[in-house]
Amino acid sequence: MSDSEIKPVRKAVFPVAGLGTRFLPATKVMPKEMLPINDRPLIQHVFEEAREAGIEEFIFVTGRHKNMLEEHFDFQPELEETLESRGKHDMLEKIRDSEMGAGQLFLTRQPRPLGLGHAIWCAAKLIEDDPFAVLLPDVLIQAPTGCLKQMVDVYNQTGGNVIAVEDVPKELTFKYGIVDTGGEDAPAGTKGMPVKGLVEKPDPKDAPSTMSVIGRYILQPEVFDHLSAFETGAGGEIQLTDAMDKLIGKQPFTAMRFQGKSYDSGSRLGFIQANLAYASKDPEIGDDVRQTIRDFASQLDKDAMNEAAE
Ligand code: G1P
Repeated sequence: MSDSEIKPVRKAVFPVAGLGTRFLPATKVMPKEMLPINDRPLIQHVFEEAREAGIEEFIFVTGRHKNMLEEHFDFQPELEETLESRGKHDMLEKIRDSEMGAGQLFLTRQPRPLGLGHAIWCAAKLIEDDPFAVLLPDVLIQAPTGCLKQMVDVYNQTGGNVIAVEDVPKELTFKYGIVDTGGEDAPAGTKGMPVKGLVEKPDPKDAPSTMSVIGRYILQPEVFDHLSAFETGAGGEIQLTDAMDKLIGKQPFTAMRFQGKSYDSGSRLGFIQANLAYASKDPEIGDDVRQTIRDFASQLDKDAMNEAAE
């Protein structure tokens, strides 16, 4: 595809309508996307990843009791005035950095939880005829260059659709979208490889590979032609993976092994791991956090030895 045919990716969809049942009671009132990883909520991490990749329009597919998400990215004059008057300029900078500019945030609702494909379809009118990114806020990717930026770099070469992938243990393929690689492997680094097919949550014995879709997508608007059929797939839900599979062969479709480490912050263990990973790299508290982890680990070892000796 020549450069002139490749439209830049400026819009991103964030499906944030989920209930967050895995975090109850913490998420009884608070949206799961507002749970903090180190000093900022989950949703802000993915917003920053999208912004770094050149996204200018942020589309939240939201639902009931999610108003806090839009408030978080809004101008908060009383807070700014208070910080200003107290001379807390570092904090003020942080607050301003989490604000979206006028005309950048768009909201659409998914009234019923009919699946990820349905959630994305809810943004169809806002996407119009443009390519767009999808970022699942449950997945955090810690990387020197954000995952979506890495994908945009690949997209600028290939056009079409690009998905970020990583290997999972064979017995866990039933939790993910899995790529049919045609038996080939993606080259190391962030170079892409063509996708031959996609299957949502296959039984390990039927999985075409162990290469999983990790929650970052660049898609062409034609995916809506397939989503609007509202066909249900795995788990009785309208699956994004099934609609993407129908684009293969018609448009370039590339899988990219990203550089970085992913955290499933939608699970309680992944959430704790992400907090440790991000806090241990924090410029203010990182040294202390790393020392705390070492102290904690050695205390656990001592406790285990004492228990064994008893
Ligand atoms: C969704 C997608 C799946 C993808 C996964 C990544 O599944 O449907 O293809 O592999 O996210 O986290 P979910 O985790 O919403 O069941």
